[in-house]
Amino acid sequence: MNILVLNGPNLNLLGLREEDIYGSDSLKDIENRLNIIAEKNNCKLYFYQSNAEHELIDVIQSSLNKDIDAIIFNPAAYTHTSVALRDSLLAVKIPFFEVHISDVESREDFRKKSYFSDIAEKVFSGHGVKGYELALNEALNINR
Ligand code: DQA
Repeated sequence: MNILVLNGPNLNLLGLREEDIYGSDSLKDIENRLNIIAEKNNCKLYFYQSNAEHELIDVIQSSLNKDIDAIIFNPAAYTHTSVALRDSLLAVKIPFFEVHISDVESREDFRKKSYFSDIAEKVFSGHGVKGYELALNEALNINR
């Protein structure tokens, strides 16, 4: 199984960024833990983070050529703004799992709107960085 783990803007700063909200783990720490789970399950993970909307769209589109079975996606601030990213996920028709480290529902009003939740297989919000592992476990079961 091949799974793309995609992270949007400012998530490269995890560990330094608003630690009271996002915790002290870096993106690399998260990726290392996901790799341990993936290896046990005969799964290959592809990691990609970008601060640029068009780069995230390009990677979603190129998933078709890479035989990606599922996408784990934290769109970060684009969650609340990006029709373009939503459309790219609809276009490739690859099942995806939406992850948010913080509980977006209990924060500012502008974070309550997600352009992804209604088309995601499942949303993991407010579980801290553990949300990525929950999403991976769910994605691993998608074809079973
Ligand atoms: C986030 C929540 C978003 O509202 C925010 O813009 C982020 C991170 C989260 O993981 O909690 O950058 O997606």
